[in-house]
Amino acid sequence: MNTPKRRYTGPAIEADRVSFNYKNIKAVDQISLEVPQGISFGVLGPNGSGKTTFIRLLVGLLRPKSGTIRTLGRPPSRKMARHIGYMPQLASLYAELSIAQNVDFFARIYGLRDKAKRRQQVEQAIKLVGLWPRRRDSVHKLSGGMKQRVSLACAIVHRPPLLFLDEPTVGIDPKLRVTFWEYFENLTRQGVTIVISSHTMDDAAHCDRLVFLRQGKIIAQGTPHELRQSTGQPEASLEDAFLYFVRYREKGNDSK
Ligand SMILES: Nc1ncnc2c1ncn2[C@@H]1O[C@H](COP(=O)(O)OP(=O)(O)OP(=O)(O)O)[C@@H](O)[C@H]1O
Ligand SMILES: [Mg+2]
Repeated sequence: MNTPKRRYTGPAIEADRVSFNYKNIKAVDQISLEVPQGISFGVLGPNGSGKTTFIRLLVGLLRPKSGTIRTLGRPPSRKMARHIGYMPQLASLYAELSIAQNVDFFARIYGLRDKAKRRQQVEQAIKLVGLWPRRRDSVHKLSGGMKQRVSLACAIVHRPPLLFLDEPTVGIDPKLRVTFWEYFENLTRQGVTIVISSHTMDDAAHCDRLVFLRQGKIIAQGTPHELRQSTGQPEASLEDAFLYFVRYREKGNDSK
């Protein structure tokens, strides 16, 4: 694992009243949260609720208009890039390059200089996403789900202690989704922190903690169990919990 020199034991992420707007659209509105290390943290919300914008702020690709962010105890910066893995919602791959060349490229930009080590980690990342037999194929020949898998391999190849995955399970078949979650759970056991955005409550149920977003604001956060319990109905699903908090907010309650 590619950890900073002195082992940092504080929270993986600290966001304090973070806001970001695109002209008059408040994409992220006064978000404050703390994510301890070694957990999977789900960011859930409908289209346009601010998930991607928030992740891009945490990665350091956008700067907050107000508020502060710290990842692994430091403000987001280029220097932090090698400690962070980011899988964007839309795969940013080089279509003409092969799978192996793409993953190798990301390994290099994340600072994996040692050739033998890089080759080994590239191989492991491609094997993990089940594309080793196709490693020499150009990315433009791949299906949408396969591109998604290459994109995940690129994000994890340098084995960062903090991973941001923007809707990693979209377009992934059910069998591979199970493999992904087994892998994510294995990573968190090793102390890696994973932030995952999703629409599906299936993903949400796997996360250690969740935050529900709506119109750029946090409407609830807690463990899946706590969020279900908050509805007061023992049989409530996470979908029920989300709708419960939407209605709760619509009644004019500020937060819960
Ligand atoms: N580049 C941009 N320019 C202008 N507005 C934007 C831009 N990107 C996002 N927005 C707006 O910001 C808000 C939040 O968008 P964002 O992409 O963060 O949502 P999301 O929760 O990731 O949605 P989805 O589930 O569809 O991926 C939306 O109202 C969106 O229209
Ligand atoms: Mg998005």
